[in-house]
Amino acid sequence: MKKVRKAVIPAAGLGTRVLPATKAMPKEMLPIVDKPAIQYIVEEAAASGIEEILIITNRGKGLLEDHFDRAPELEDRLATDPGKAAILEQVRSITKLANIWYVRQKETKGLGHAVNCARNFIGGEPFAVLYGDDVIMGEDPACGQLIRAYEQYGLGVAGVKEVSPQAIHKYSSLKVEPLAGNCFRCTDMIEKPAPGQEFSLYSILGRCVLPPEIFDILDVTPPGAGGEIQLTDAMKTLARRKGMVALDFTGKRYDMGSKLGVMQAGVEAALGHPEIGGEFRAYLKELAKTL
Ligand code: UTP
Repeated sequence: MKKVRKAVIPAAGLGTRVLPATKAMPKEMLPIVDKPAIQYIVEEAAASGIEEILIITNRGKGLLEDHFDRAPELEDRLATDPGKAAILEQVRSITKLANIWYVRQKETKGLGHAVNCARNFIGGEPFAVLYGDDVIMGEDPACGQLIRAYEQYGLGVAGVKEVSPQAIHKYSSLKVEPLAGNCFRCTDMIEKPAPGQEFSLYSILGRCVLPPEIFDILDVTPPGAGGEIQLTDAMKTLARRKGMVALDFTGKRYDMGSKLGVMQAGVEAALGHPEIGGEFRAYLKELAKTL
């Protein structure tokens, strides 16, 4: 079985749920305290053994490329101040996380269409997909958990979590039966189910590992929910054909494409931050008394 070495990060959405912040700035660059969301995602991929990453961008996402590039003027300035050695090292280390490539999705035709832009980059290998606005924090990188499940079962793997009955219609719903531990066998799924169409409350949240045959499936997947080519619809074909694995990964997921998710990520990361964690905790406790 071929090793999972490559990952795709689709980051070409319009981010309409966090406007006006995302009018000129990609939502993937929204900071969680002092690090943009996309850096957390690239770090997770690198910590999972991924060597090559393709970020799917579109017009106006140049900031993403700048973030992973060298910044000579800034670095030269930091280098002159011995007190800034640690931050200089951090700034430089961002450029060494992985080999990062970029391709533009020319029209915003959906997540499935965005992933299909990666066909030539991926070639005939299995690959991971990390949705550009889903940050997952935890001890064991979520992408790595999915890769291990792929290696164990030899099937495509979807990272899932249970969502509330009120929220399921915004996500996908998977038909699952227990396999072992936190792994399920998945034989069907539906994107944005209408009431009564749900298979279960397990929904794909932000990560999957797919075999290269997904590209031929995407080529013939018609537009689905919202008129967009949905990755879930292509995975549904895969699940029905061969079966997939649904992995209830460990780690906490933050939806950086929603206002609430942005705030939750910021507050929780601030509480654990080595520099401001203590002070922020004290502030939050005081504030909470007034609520
Ligand atoms: P979303 O549906 O959350 O992205 O897609 P969006 O279009 O930015 O969302 P709204 O406008 O706030 O509702 C999930 C992931 O797929 C990417 C997004 O960047 C996000 O990471 N995506 C979506 C693309 O790359 N291309 C697309 O055409 C659609």
